[in-house]
Amino acid sequence: MSHDLFEAARKAMARAHAPYSKFPVGAALRTADGRVYAGANIEVASYPEGWCAETTMLGHYVMAGGGEIAEVAVVAQRMARITPCGGCRQRLAEFGRPDARLHLCDETGIVETTTLGAMLPLGFQGDILK
Ligand code: THU
Repeated sequence: MSHDLFEAARKAMARAHAPYSKFPVGAALRTADGRVYAGANIEVASYPEGWCAETTMLGHYVMAGGGEIAEVAVVAQRMARITPCGGCRQRLAEFGRPDARLHLCDETGIVETTTLGAMLPLGFQGDILK
């Protein structure tokens, strides 16, 4: 059912700019009202200035108006079942509810489905900052 979201992530991965790590990553999310936003990692010669596929994806999502996130898919060319890095778990938790589905993929499709909440137990929450 979510294979199309995997396809969107894989298509985004083809746009990765990863000349240094040679580790292309793609990510895609679907909102509860059916919109899909995708992204790839973008590296720069000053290594720490690059950013992750999930971050590109979230930028598209925020600029399009955001909304409830129903599910997310991530895929990497060179890893059988990529899981989002720690920073991206925090970024995903900023916008997605803990019960939003997270599909971990290989190059053929979804390998495992978990949730954003399971990926970031006891994560820092910004409620008190508001
Ligand atoms: N990367 C992502 O795009 N997402 C992750 O969750 C893990 C890592 C990228 C960052 C960098 O361009 C490359 O993978 C190697 O770390």
